[in-house]
Amino acid sequence: MARLSGKKVVVIGGASGVGHAVGAAALAAGAEVVVGSSQAARIAAAAERLGHGTVGRTVDVRDEASVAAFFDAVGAFDHLVFTAGDWGHMFGPTGTLDIDASKARLEVRFWGAARAAKHALRHIVPAGSITLTGGMLAHRPMPGAPLTTASAQSTEGLAVGLARDLAPIRVNAVCLGLILSEQVQGMGEAAIKGYTAHLPLPRPGTTAEAAEAYLYLMQATYVTGQVVRVDGGASLV
Ligand SMILES: NC(=O)c1ccc[n+]([C@@H]2O[C@H](COP(=O)([O-])OP(=O)(O)OC[C@H]3O[C@@H](n4cnc5c(N)ncnc54)[C@H](OP(=O)(O)O)[C@@H]3O)[C@@H](O)[C@H]2O)c1
Repeated sequence: MARLSGKKVVVIGGASGVGHAVGAAALAAGAEVVVGSSQAARIAAAAERLGHGTVGRTVDVRDEASVAAFFDAVGAFDHLVFTAGDWGHMFGPTGTLDIDASKARLEVRFWGAARAAKHALRHIVPAGSITLTGGMLAHRPMPGAPLTTASAQSTEGLAVGLARDLAPIRVNAVCLGLILSEQVQGMGEAAIKGYTAHLPLPRPGTTAEAAEAYLYLMQATYVTGQVVRVDGGASLV
């Protein structure tokens, strides 16, 4: 029997990149898949690309009413994966921080994940799981971007705290290194090499390689409160 046969997997952020690859991997493992994101045309196209067994639904994780309505429409489900992210997230150096703008930049990745966890609760099965998404800047800070590191760590903190609070529902996070999503491809080859050439695995990861970690965490029935790094060994150098 397929690994996720009979399970319903919800991917918020599934219109593109890592979330889309998680949707494809879950479908291949036999799950029914719901993908959600904020732009109706993008999520409809994503659901069509994924094909039979997929439903696409619009949700804006910045808006709590939208998140509540999304989960009410989804109904009972087994696993939530949250990969929603906006890309204007580099906060910049301390001396020039715009504090209010910086707060707003936590709306999708951090507060969005908290809203999703809150409203998923009404419908997720007790044996279910939630997997959030963090990034390596949490562990490899760069000069000029302290809040970027703090915000990346906040997602991991949320996953660990939720694992205690929502048990027996399992909550984990995947911490991504540079993964070749459409967004990352847009950085250009030279920049990508600059970030990855020194790594033990000297290349960016594929979205399918990242998706494997989410599939693992859905099925790892004795694992909660953990952060799985998919980073080509970036943590080691
Ligand atoms: N790729 C990497 O190298 C990397 C590294 C570290 C961390 N990450 C993080 O991992 C996550 C996934 O990355 P990715 O490369 O797959 O990015 P991506 O392709 O841009 O995927 C992000 C998804 O989030 C959705 N989204 C954005 N705003 C939303 C909102 N307000 N409500 C609901 N959905 C929303 C987008 O669709 P719509 O536009 O339709 O809303 C999109 O499908 C992001 O949080 C990213 O920051 C990525």
